[in-house]
Amino acid sequence: MARLKAGVLISGRGSNLQALIDACAVPGFPAEIALVIANKADAYGLQRAQQANIPSAVISHRDYPDKQRFEQAIDAAFRDAGVGLVCLAGFMRLLSPWFVDRWYDRLINIHPSLLPAFKGLDTHARALAAGVRIAGCTVHLVRSAVDEGPIIAQAAVPVLPGDDETALAARILESEHRLYPLALRLFAEDRLQVVEGRVEIRGMIAAGPALINPPA
Ligand code: GAR
Repeated sequence: MARLKAGVLISGRGSNLQALIDACAVPGFPAEIALVIANKADAYGLQRAQQANIPSAVISHRDYPDKQRFEQAIDAAFRDAGVGLVCLAGFMRLLSPWFVDRWYDRLINIHPSLLPAFKGLDTHARALAAGVRIAGCTVHLVRSAVDEGPIIAQAAVPVLPGDDETALAARILESEHRLYPLALRLFAEDRLQVVEGRVEIRGMIAAGPALINPPA
């Protein structure tokens, strides 16, 4: 079967992009990355794409008179590359309803919290301030409202005594790197179906035991 062509939108470091690149490099993985677009020329993720010989482009919002024109350029580039799924990986611009509609159910995002908790920015600081014992990350289909949309997959990690934002973010990021490739694989294998606003996964096996924190 032909591999799904994924497009990735980034704004910076691109460690999630790297996780997707690494997953796609494994023989038999059902997706490939056809194009990486950054809205910033200095996004480190662009170097990751170049190192992996993946086509990349800079499409900066600064070069367009308005958001629609900026998004039209991104849309056209992904379509020209034959992209069937767009993955947001640390893309820090809000996409308009126009773009979200054009890629409806073919646009996914990773967010560093267990949604619907802690949408938006400063998620780690807010999770720490709330005193949660378990944090994590979510991959979801994108809808117009920020960090909303049917949930595909989640990973949970403990919040440990003494955690600061940096420590918690690093622990969550590690789980993001495992979760995003999994979600991409499920999408590429055509195992996701949205039913009444929720994602059903064909052939899903039961998860392991509860993560309990504190453990005893
Ligand atoms: C990741 O933690 C991702 O979940 C987050 O930005 C980071 C990007 O890191 N995304 C958001 O907060 C979007 N709301 P990366 O560039 O190394 O993948």
